[in-house]
Amino acid sequence: AVERTLSIIKPDATERNITGKINQRFEDAGLRIVAQRRLQLTTEQAQAFYAVHKERPFYNDLVAFMTSGPVVAQVLEGENAIEKNREVMGATDPSKADQGTIRADFAKNIEANSVHGSDSPETAREEIKFFFSNIDIVG
Ligand code: CMP
Repeated sequence: AVERTLSIIKPDATERNITGKINQRFEDAGLRIVAQRRLQLTTEQAQAFYAVHKERPFYNDLVAFMTSGPVVAQVLEGENAIEKNREVMGATDPSKADQGTIRADFAKNIEANSVHGSDSPETAREEIKFFFSNIDIVG
């Protein structure tokens, strides 16, 4: 089925000016960028977005990293988009990511791992709503 997923290009990637290279990976995989916005997250926004990880030891560092520079939030659309995006991204830890994935090729480490992608249809719905209204998404 055609799905939508929320993607974030993270500060380590905007800092290196590789957002176009990352977008090319999505498009080459058949994913369409149907909404996109560059923004600087506040601490409160990053805390809220990653609230599910609140109790994890990496939470405070993650929030600091995600607010350290601009991010590009985007909605990707396509057949099986949630799973397809996860394949294109590769494993969270770039040292474990398959060859040819975004994280294997661009990520610096498990935290500065260049991209985020929703992990389920429910999460995708919530995460898209966090950044976009329906009128911002043009399929
Ligand atoms: P993301 O897919 O955005 O979801 C949570 C983020 O936490 C993850 O990518 C990483 O950027 C970051 N993170 C840092 N350390 C860890 C860890 N040990 N396990 C999982 N995620 C981590």
